[in-house]
Amino acid sequence: MRKEIYRMPDAEARALLASAPYVHLCGTDDDGRPIARTVHGVVVDGALAFHAAPAGEKLGLLDRPVVAFTEEMVAEIPSWFVDPERACPATTYYRAVQVHGVLETVSEPAHKARVLAALMARFQPEGRHVPITHDHPLYEKALRGLLVAHVPLAHLDGKSKLGQNRSAEERARILELLWQRGRPGDPRAIELIRRASPDTPLPPFLAAPAGLRLSVCLGPGDLDGALALLRGAYWNVGNSDEALRRSHLGADAWVGAHDAEGRLVATARATSDGAKHAWVYDVAVHPAQRGLGVGQAVVRLLCDHPAVRAAHLTHLYTRDAQAFYGRLGFAPPRPPPFERTELVLERAEGAPAAGPIPPSPP
Ligand SMILES: CC(C)(COP(=O)(O)OP(=O)(O)OC[C@H]1O[C@@H](n2cnc3c(N)ncnc32)[C@H](O)[C@@H]1OP(=O)(O)O)[C@@H](O)C(=O)NCCC(=O)NCCS
Repeated sequence: MRKEIYRMPDAEARALLASAPYVHLCGTDDDGRPIARTVHGVVVDGALAFHAAPAGEKLGLLDRPVVAFTEEMVAEIPSWFVDPERACPATTYYRAVQVHGVLETVSEPAHKARVLAALMARFQPEGRHVPITHDHPLYEKALRGLLVAHVPLAHLDGKSKLGQNRSAEERARILELLWQRGRPGDPRAIELIRRASPDTPLPPFLAAPAGLRLSVCLGPGDLDGALALLRGAYWNVGNSDEALRRSHLGADAWVGAHDAEGRLVATARATSDGAKHAWVYDVAVHPAQRGLGVGQAVVRLLCDHPAVRAAHLTHLYTRDAQAFYGRLGFAPPRPPPFERTELVLERAEGAPAAGPIPPSPP
């Protein structure tokens, strides 16, 4: 039985299962031989469903108890994050979900077609195929020949191991050390640990202006809020909502601030090559929150983000906020340590190239 402190809320467990890139399916056949397989799974009609060829080992699991599970590694936590001497606290933080049940065959053609259509929508979201229905001549025969099976989600068990067993002070120290370590997944780990244990005291790098909460890793759930702040800004004229969404999801660092109701009131993002250059883009604070230090707090956090602080130079363009950025250490470019003879060039999407590459000499 799970320790209660690690139990994941049901909705979160379902969301983790629904977003899993793959699922492990394990059980034993009639002769007691263990079978383990990795499959693509989708949740359809309250069950985790798979498809397979109607031959092979998976058949041995049909009508038998199975466990299907998936997991996401969040962060490796070295022992010294917690104890300077003992190796025992070394651990891994992760999120995992298990489904226990009997693997049932799905034989009704319309139900089979819904599972296959859901698999296509999940793993080939661009479409580019004739939609799958049970009576379409393209699919009728294939549907008859495929095995579709599912495990009802009646016994779903999610676990998130994110330091809930540590004291609040130990967790605050873990947040600080994750931020200092700065591996690619560490900012997200910080947010997951805070969400799992909201009583964790704030380490200094997360100190926020009154009434606000700084976040070191925004995600898809923040896109609408960010677009509301950025749409129509002078530098975004001509950028579609879709371009704004993709640029945020593709950023190497995306930080912000939420108010007490969870609304995003400030956002800033950066791209970085992790060594030479980082570029800050799309800094905005909600008009009602301006002049209160929120912009400074968010840009300072962005510059301290592991992806950005790893770069030797951080660049940005601004039309009128030089004074705002000046306080954060930004200044007009210094002359390079060589005679400046280069020009800034840029290439617009789809700009024509000048003909084919000439063949190399014999
Ligand atoms: C620029 C912006 C992010 C600043 O956020 P903020 O939360 O108001 O800033 P802070 O409260 O931390 O800092 C305010 C200080 O910066 C200065 N400042 C703010 N915007 C400025 C601007 N456009 N130009 C020069 N100084 C500016 C303020 O005068 C203030 O100085 P003061 O403390 O001496 O009065 C915010 O005004 C904003 O979202 N503007 C619209 C979007 C934008 O222009 N983004 C920057 C694009 S490069």
